[in-house]
Amino acid sequence: MTNTYVKIFDTTLRDGEQSPGATMTSAEKLEVALHLARLGVDVIEAGFPAASPDDLEAVRRIAVEVGNPRPGHPHAKVPVIAGLARANQADIDKAWEAVREAQKPRIHTFLAPSEIHMKHKLKMDPEEVVQRVSEMVAYARSLCADVEFSPEDAGRSDPEFLYVVLGEAIKAGATTLNIPDTVGYTTPEEFHKLIEGIIHNTPGLDERITVSVHCHDDLGLAAANTLAGIRAGARQAEVTINGIGERAGNTSLEEVVMALRTRHPIFNLETGIDTRQIARISKLVSNYTGMIVQPNKAIVGVNAFAHEAGIHQDGMLKHQTTYEIMRPEDVGVNQSRLVLGKHSGRHALRTRLAEMGHSLDEVELDKAFARFKELADRKKVITDLDLEALIADEFYRPRDVYLLNGLQVACGTMGMPTATVRLRGPDGNVQTRAAIGTGPVDATYKAIDMIISVPCTLLEFNVHAITEGIDALGEVTVRIQGENGHKTMDAQSEIEHVRVYGGHGADTDIIVASAKAYINALNKLIIARTEGAEKVKNDFGVMLG
Ligand code: KIV
Ligand code: ZN
Repeated sequence: MTNTYVKIFDTTLRDGEQSPGATMTSAEKLEVALHLARLGVDVIEAGFPAASPDDLEAVRRIAVEVGNPRPGHPHAKVPVIAGLARANQADIDKAWEAVREAQKPRIHTFLAPSEIHMKHKLKMDPEEVVQRVSEMVAYARSLCADVEFSPEDAGRSDPEFLYVVLGEAIKAGATTLNIPDTVGYTTPEEFHKLIEGIIHNTPGLDERITVSVHCHDDLGLAAANTLAGIRAGARQAEVTINGIGERAGNTSLEEVVMALRTRHPIFNLETGIDTRQIARISKLVSNYTGMIVQPNKAIVGVNAFAHEAGIHQDGMLKHQTTYEIMRPEDVGVNQSRLVLGKHSGRHALRTRLAEMGHSLDEVELDKAFARFKELADRKKVITDLDLEALIADEFYRPRDVYLLNGLQVACGTMGMPTATVRLRGPDGNVQTRAAIGTGPVDATYKAIDMIISVPCTLLEFNVHAITEGIDALGEVTVRIQGENGHKTMDAQSEIEHVRVYGGHGADTDIIVASAKAYINALNKLIIARTEGAEKVKNDFGVMLG
């Protein structure tokens, strides 16, 4: 019987997060992993444990908390939790240490068999590569029953040599063979042929081994190549939310899943994804990484379901299918219906949040309700999108090292823009500073810098309205880079990245939202610098945990 199920292997937290500028805190990674599990992914690649002690600890927490049945949800699907490792014992040991507490752990190890990588990066000859793959897959298998092997840069490797390397990996115990087009070089026809060739010619490959595809988007062909690989017989697709990842990114989860669903008659394949959750997790990842989704991005861009041209609008009014191949509600868009207002009570809020997938305890609900009432005083109707922003702002941020306690701004055409900022610090002390700037945001950021004084560069600042109308909630995302910052190892090389931190803030006042976003990013930078693994007492003498 042909297998019609395609496993979705999400690598947002590894290939996605390790791309410069997409850094998330451990708390954010855990939250994304919980949402990925709820979305229904089959495998979560939670990180590259050898990169740093923080990365190892973040993967371990995900393995424990997301890789096991959740309290109150004993029958929910539990995803496999994978950790990446280069093909050496030290990396494999760290990956195993990180994932071993999951119900279904996986070690994912890789080595490049392409001419270019063997000669210039690895400085190994083909025989050495074959031997290393055999030894390291066997070593991983001695620790874990589920081992994935990836011949990095397979898209530019000699297919005949690939068959040999993959055959050795199978002999050594690999259970999944993942074929990466690491530099996004191939075309769909070539990639189809590559996967077909592997399936037909790899010694020992049978239905017990899953063939997987992993594509990058350097030529904008990642989703097309992934689908071509699936049509050739691959039954696992490695993807990321919003397609984030190295350089131009990885294949985006939403594009592959919606292509398989929308064109079901030609693919005849299923996934386990609850597509109605796509919009929400896309937003969450964008908020945490500070990486804005381009407006015209397929499936999750704000324009993906907008019809501007009169002729299109006319068609849509006559029948939705004239210009729409998917229903927005199928990916969780169009949640801007009016839901709650000033007079809605705590129970209505709890019910709506539960329907949206947020189960809050009593204390959290109290906080959410207070924020909701505050917003309802300033905004007549509150939509699901407002609630999402409010929840993200209140709960899904790292622990507050500094917290905005007050802000007063004077600006306009007369005089210098001036901001007075009051922050509560980690020791509970409140500090107030005033600064002038070129505009109200600049003045606010200068005043914040006077209090926090962590040297950093503001790389990006974005502001947009969440919903329509003059009373709309404004949302700000920023990205900052610390000087002499916190470094992590690149999974594919020995190079270290200086990390970039994203921050997010939402408020009906965009200057307040801007202040919150900047403080949020600075808090992440401070936590990353002071927090080692699962500990610790920070520089300020208080427990951050
Ligand atoms: O792109 C790539 O080759 C990878 C491997 C480590 C799977 O990310
Ligand atoms: Zn990759």
